[in-house]
Amino acid sequence: MEHLDVLTLEQKARLLSGRGLWHTQAAPEAGVPEIVLADGPHGVRLQEDENATDIMGINASRPATCFPTAAAVGSSWDVEVAARLGAAVGREARGQGVAVLLGPGVNIKRSPLCGRNFEYYSEDPLLSGMLGAAQVEGLRAEGVLASVKHFAANNQETDRAVISADVDERTLREIYLPAFEHIVTRARPATVMTSFNKVNGVHTAEHHWLLTEVLRAEWGFDGVVVSDWGGVHDRVAALLAGLDLQMPGDPAADAAVADAVRRGELDEAVVDRSARRVIDLALAATEGAAEVEGAPEVDADAQHALARLLAADCAVLLKNDGGVLPLTGDTATIAVIGEFATAPRFQGGGSSHVNPTRVDEPLAEIRAAAAAVGVEVTHAAGFDDGAVAVAGAAGVAVVFAGLAERYESEAYDRRTMLLPSDQVALIRAVAAVARCTVVVLANGGAVSLEGWHDDVDAVLEGWLLGQAGGGAIADLLFGVVNPSGRLAETLPLRLEDNPSHLNFPGEFGHVRYGEGVLVGYRYYQSLDVPVRYPFGHGLSYTEFRVTDLAVTMDGDDAATVRAAVTNVGLRAGKHVVQVYVETAAGPVRRPRRELRAFRKVALEPGCSAEVTFRLDRRAFAYYNLDRADWAVAAGEYAVQIGANAADIVAEQRVILPGDLVPLRLTRDSPVGEWLAHPVAGPALVETLVALMPEEQRAEAAAGIEMLHLVSALPLGVILDGGPLDVPPEVVADLVALTDRAPVRV
Ligand code: BGC
Repeated sequence: MEHLDVLTLEQKARLLSGRGLWHTQAAPEAGVPEIVLADGPHGVRLQEDENATDIMGINASRPATCFPTAAAVGSSWDVEVAARLGAAVGREARGQGVAVLLGPGVNIKRSPLCGRNFEYYSEDPLLSGMLGAAQVEGLRAEGVLASVKHFAANNQETDRAVISADVDERTLREIYLPAFEHIVTRARPATVMTSFNKVNGVHTAEHHWLLTEVLRAEWGFDGVVVSDWGGVHDRVAALLAGLDLQMPGDPAADAAVADAVRRGELDEAVVDRSARRVIDLALAATEGAAEVEGAPEVDADAQHALARLLAADCAVLLKNDGGVLPLTGDTATIAVIGEFATAPRFQGGGSSHVNPTRVDEPLAEIRAAAAAVGVEVTHAAGFDDGAVAVAGAAGVAVVFAGLAERYESEAYDRRTMLLPSDQVALIRAVAAVARCTVVVLANGGAVSLEGWHDDVDAVLEGWLLGQAGGGAIADLLFGVVNPSGRLAETLPLRLEDNPSHLNFPGEFGHVRYGEGVLVGYRYYQSLDVPVRYPFGHGLSYTEFRVTDLAVTMDGDDAATVRAAVTNVGLRAGKHVVQVYVETAAGPVRRPRRELRAFRKVALEPGCSAEVTFRLDRRAFAYYNLDRADWAVAAGEYAVQIGANAADIVAEQRVILPGDLVPLRLTRDSPVGEWLAHPVAGPALVETLVALMPEEQRAEAAAGIEMLHLVSALPLGVILDGGPLDVPPEVVADLVALTDRAPVRV
């Protein structure tokens, strides 16, 4: 007998929303336990107070290790980092009795202003999807289930509960859905969380096309769709659309579901289906945790050490003129400047806010590293003349700058990318007197480097590195670890250059995704817009060469890419091999190039490795609205290795024959489309010539040529008004021919 059979309608309906904020409902009658859900994604946020009513993390939560935020993990370009982070968070989650961790967040960074960008990985869907899948698998390895969020097109915080993201389907398919699709199809997460916003006018929690047609029918998702906290507006509509679990608990909504069944407005089978999924989730979570051996021993020191290791792989060395970094024993004195050196910014505000087990102080970590090489460290908080004095007296000034917590958070967006003006003034004042100036940044969303970038020698972008970020920064500054992060989003010269700029954050409840698929580097590269640093940029203390690129086709629409990567410098380091595909093939505007594969490779100095990538059909395809499917267009494609999205170091061109598909034409299709059709075009010409009187045939070529002048008109209009008497069955035969004869497109 299945669990459902022993439950009444009311008991089943009760399963469809939580018990309070952080639990599912138990059904003891059927042996179904309750389970605990907690935020995520970069640490466990389990609220101690069962009765707490805030969902934004203002109440104290159990101490947990705060790992690097997703913005930082995105910059690692390393699935190992995401997987290890997932497992480490999973271990703590299991230790705290958490079954489902609410993350990862894989929304695309459409605008640098989104207040939640620190919780998301990248402006690129492949990078987001691969890192997200690794994090989900890491969690699962520790018996903890994931909730991939926020599905979908949740790319701003302004009006997040009511805004409609108005996005065309090709853009959804190519930009905003693929990270979810990748994770759902490859890592099979147990739950997917809907977002607060609407997509094309319908709240995602009530969006049948998203939740049922795409997520379940196309991608094969068989887990639980859970609402964002407070994101359901019409419980019955949500259930019908495919949303199983409403959070937090809502007894009135449960009653409404049962009433709707009793009134005959809702089929009980719909309730059963979702209740069964919630039951399966509770059982799977309990079994999953039980399968992982023993109670987890969480060693806070080891977790902190891991957080430090991972953080060091995330920071991006943007600039390093004259090799000012790494710092060495030759520097007599290092002046450390800025309040973030003693009160670091290392995570974002809102529901992901973790109560850290400890926090590294960057200044103390720098002092320890400096002492090891006999270097003196001085410090000034900044904002007064003390900073200029210590900077002037030192060999190197290291300025800690960035955004304080109030500047960015869940629930609101920023208005500007600029650093606060007092910080810019401080950096410039220090740079004016210091022999060398290094700026270390802490910010969740991208900040502008303009107005001070050219005054300083080095810039290390740390994003929000988690509680051990201070130690990681010291490791990177002193070369204990070689920087290996790469930008997961473009740093534009001006906010106005961002493609979403004229359509962010929307008006009158709608935000129009007018830039379409040209998001982030897809836009900057397509239009050759100069940027401060391109997507994929990041420096190292060593140098890498990528050579021997070889692309071989596997059939018509897949390829194997091989290349050799060599560390030609003097230090061990990690390089990210980035594979892009550039094309203009097809009837749609393609972004100039798109990231299609990547891998981070660790190499000792002088060593080489061969990297191999498989590019499947999707790497060459665009979403064809007419066919409601992915399509590979005939034409030329350049498979490229980029140091970043703007700097291609090797490429090989391949010609793809394109998909062989029926291209159906009718009497209403334009003459131009008829003439361009590789099979029906010549057949049409032949038919028309055959119908001409003998004596006119000599002039046939000129007559046909005339047809090009009316290429935009429907064929039927031309034939009906034309000099030739074309019998309807002849046209019907031509139409049938387009059905029969597939062509390459
Ligand atoms: C956030 C989610 C979070 C949930 C529970 C919501 O405000 O959007 O990301 O998981 O709260 O805290």
